[in-house]
Amino acid sequence: MKRIIFTLALLLPAMAIASTELHLEKAPTDITDKAALQEGAKLYVNYCMGCHSLNYSRFERVGKDSGMTEDEVKQNLMFTADKIGETMTIAMTKADGVNWFGVAPPDLSVTARSRGVDWIYNYLLAFYVDPARPFGVNNLIFKDVAMPHALWERQGLQKPVYETVTEGGQSHQVIKSLEPVNQADAAKAENYRKDVLNLVTFLEYVGEPAKLERQRLGIWVLIYLVILTIVAYLLKKEYWRDVH
Ligand code: HEC
Repeated sequence: MKRIIFTLALLLPAMAIASTELHLEKAPTDITDKAALQEGAKLYVNYCMGCHSLNYSRFERVGKDSGMTEDEVKQNLMFTADKIGETMTIAMTKADGVNWFGVAPPDLSVTARSRGVDWIYNYLLAFYVDPARPFGVNNLIFKDVAMPHALWERQGLQKPVYETVTEGGQSHQVIKSLEPVNQADAAKAENYRKDVLNLVTFLEYVGEPAKLERQRLGIWVLIYLVILTIVAYLLKKEYWRDVH
């Protein structure tokens, strides 16, 4: 009986998560599309890199893989005196990030893999006006996110459209969809989608070279575990010698 209860206790949260799973629109990315990669890289350095590093990517490699010349890379992607062979690190420390946003903006090298490309695509489309939040925006995909809407100039703003849902005799309002706050913002919608697609394509590409880095690290983790096991075994032997 105890075991059944224990198993159920383990299963229930998993079932709850499964039932609230979001419906994500598919992102039609194509990482062989060099124009999309170039555009995405430009958007990234202009709008995201103030806060999010790409510690495993080098300007030079990004330029080469997206078909830019060295001069184009310098003009379009590099604003500081960095050398072209350098990694795309940022000056903001973790402590600064926590200070300013409450959460340090994570490095986005592997986010396309951890969260998934579709998740990032939908996330960047899901910011909406919420005066209760510190930066005046909330996000449908990532509730109470600490990130400001970095691309609001390109998208404009969206407001929620509510519907009333009745559950167990109680009715409450939930957000049904988002819509532009005015005509001018509505006119930007199509271009904004392209921006987001280019950005997500770039992040998907960025996640590939990082895979190699993770494998390299993985080997060291395994070696470490083997050594740890040997030490633990020797220690156990040592303890039991006194007991016997
Ligand atoms: C002003 C700083 C800032 C800028 C600029 C910014 N972000 Fe963020 N971002 C954050 C912070 C802070 C978080 C952490 C949010 C949280 O955990 O609540 C975050 C989280 C994210 C996440 C979720 C990561 C995860 O796995 O939890 C993604 C994806 C992301 N940002 C993408 C972007 C993209 C793409 C851009 C450029 C268009 C961008 N961000 C620009 C501050 C920023």
